[in-house]
Amino acid sequence: MTARVIDGKAFAATIRGKVAGHVARLKADHGITPGLAVVLVGEDPASQVYVRNKGKQTAEAGMASFEHRLDAGTSEADLLALVARLNADPTVHGILVQLPLPGHMNAELVINAIDPAKDVDGFHISNVGLLGTGQKAMVPCTPLGCLMLLRDLHGDLSGMEAVVIGRSNIVGKPMAQLLLGDSCTVTIAHSRTRDLPAVVRRADIVVAAVGRPEMVTGDWIRPGATVIDVGINRIETDGKTRLVGDVDYASAAKVAGAITPVPGGVGPMTIACLLANTVTAACRANRLPEPEGLTA
Ligand code: GUN
Repeated sequence: MTARVIDGKAFAATIRGKVAGHVARLKADHGITPGLAVVLVGEDPASQVYVRNKGKQTAEAGMASFEHRLDAGTSEADLLALVARLNADPTVHGILVQLPLPGHMNAELVINAIDPAKDVDGFHISNVGLLGTGQKAMVPCTPLGCLMLLRDLHGDLSGMEAVVIGRSNIVGKPMAQLLLGDSCTVTIAHSRTRDLPAVVRRADIVVAAVGRPEMVTGDWIRPGATVIDVGINRIETDGKTRLVGDVDYASAAKVAGAITPVPGGVGPMTIACLLANTVTAACRANRLPEPEGLTA
């Protein structure tokens, strides 16, 4: 068996198209332009690339993009003051503070200072609680993207066995909550899980989000299972840098029913879902119907 390749790049383009259509209607019918503010503190090269891509795709979707670049020595008080200004600004519907923050800042404090209704990352403690109790929340972008791919592939996920490998607050835990919300039987596995291959072999759906290059191999996968690889790892082979996931693609693709590649799988879905969350936030702020198919 050779797995069907899940084309996240194409699906993300479809999501961005839906977002752009919704933005155009919000502008034409209600005079509302959804706005996303991205805050970057410091010069982390990977973060700079993310922030540039976010700004570009936000503008391409017809939304207002506000970029705030602060130098690495900015005080936490000054960052909190900026967050307070963005919370109060009616042209800003979504706020994203790029992580990681410099070491002298308390990231939890900063994230929890964002108005939960504008927290398009879904990291605020209120959104975490809302998601955990099955209430309407802002949902973290990467798990939302994975859920959209899974729903597109399977339709109803009800009753499926899902194993999430990784227990981070950004991916593993919210992913598990979303799958539970769609009535999967969910296991969260992690570095201390006993006999991890045997646990993963139970899964109809495997979501790998551990940050260990090519850890999940084909012999861990139940034949026909769907494999969602969240990992983005840079490795050196023969002096060349390659991007690989947390799944050993070559062996897993021989066993799985469907699999996301790296790159071109989950990665492009993250920013697409950030744009989707921004439109959702703009609709909620104005008590307008939410876009269909862009939320959990
Ligand atoms: N750094 C890497 N990924 C993310 C993300 O999704 N959100 C934020 N705020 N920072 C990040």
